[in-house]
Amino acid sequence: MTDLGHVKTLEELEALASSCTGCVLSESRTTVVFASGTQQARVMVVGEGPGQQEDEQGVPFVGRSGQLLMSLLSEAGIERDDVYIANVVKCRPPRNRDPRQDEIDACKPYLRRQIELVDPRVVVTLGNFSSKLLMPTTLGITRIRGQAYEWWGRHLVPTFHPAAALRGGESVTNDIRSDVALVRSLLDGRLASSTEDAAVGRDGGVENPEDEQLDLFGATPL
Ligand code: URA
Repeated sequence: MTDLGHVKTLEELEALASSCTGCVLSESRTTVVFASGTQQARVMVVGEGPGQQEDEQGVPFVGRSGQLLMSLLSEAGIERDDVYIANVVKCRPPRNRDPRQDEIDACKPYLRRQIELVDPRVVVTLGNFSSKLLMPTTLGITRIRGQAYEWWGRHLVPTFHPAAALRGGESVTNDIRSDVALVRSLLDGRLASSTEDAAVGRDGGVENPEDEQLDLFGATPL
């Protein structure tokens, strides 16, 4: 499956995802964790993949990382209902291992269509997996975070994954907090994205503009 452009609603897309057997993660999942939030959300958050609690409940970011994320968003006046939350992979990788490239590839069409249908003003990517999937850069999250990028007519704000803040303490938490404040400013129209395109990255960070990561959203401008 490569293109889900014919799917007209999030409900239809979720129904398709719920019976997906496109990769090996479908064999060990309890539930497909499609997303939370509504089509009206102006902010879309993209995480990595469901953990144990998410797999059991079918809802993204309900565990400790999620609680931290929600409290940081709430501090900035952004509540769970205002945010559409999805993951790079919709099924839990066993023992919370990193998702593999073939699993990410199998799940990409769902994420792509979610972004098209929700049409958020700001996309927030959490950690390296989602940031590198959407931004074709070789630079790590530490280098690319801290600013907003113009991305297919919307803003992209890469930040640390909240799990990194749970491990890394106050300074990582404060970095996420400041990135969330950026999101707030973008929503309020108090800030523009960097004129630099996300496809260019910083410091000439793109390895190869023809690379796989550009393919995700390169084929059909949103
Ligand atoms: N971590 C993620 O990346 N996504 C979730 O849904 C939960 C934890």
